[in-house]
Amino acid sequence: MKRNIILCGFMGCGKSTLGPKIAQKTGYEFIDMDCYIEKKRGLTVPEIFQRLGEPEFRRIEQQICRELAQKNGLVIATGGGALVNSENAEILRSSGTIVLLDVPLPVLQQRLKTDAGRPLLQKPNRAQVIAELFQKRMPLYRRVADLSVDAGAPSQAVVDRVIFAVKKWEEKNS
Ligand code: S3P
Repeated sequence: MKRNIILCGFMGCGKSTLGPKIAQKTGYEFIDMDCYIEKKRGLTVPEIFQRLGEPEFRRIEQQICRELAQKNGLVIATGGGALVNSENAEILRSSGTIVLLDVPLPVLQQRLKTDAGRPLLQKPNRAQVIAELFQKRMPLYRRVADLSVDAGAPSQAVVDRVIFAVKKWEEKNS
């Protein structure tokens, strides 16, 4: 059975851009959780935050984790807040391997500098907001991830690293 590859990490770490490349190389199907939610609800993530509130977004997110955990052969790009909730991590872990894409804070700050689509970052003093959230979340990601991959390198190298690390991890744990 093709167990899912679940990409986890901070906003901007590359889950949604590396995910399709990993899927293409492995023959898995790529699912971006945020896009999946947007399609299901007919609203964008910022619209859900604005109209329904963050708690409702988190509720939908958990429902999607449960739904995706029933499937296999997927590369899943989780939203940056999804696996901060350890219950979501356990739900998804039942279907596959959780891989943390580890990118240094200054790189993320640079990548997210002008982002307009992430509700949590639309605040003054963005670099500081990112730093505080990063410090709070990285230990949580590390706790729930089965493996961590240095993802600050060019994308093809990271894609190969993820595929190699998951293969080794699955061999060891099967
Ligand atoms: C969030 C990250 C976003 C999206 C939402 C909330 C977060 O996903 O789910 O804006 O709490 O970190 P990305 O990690 O794909 O930006």
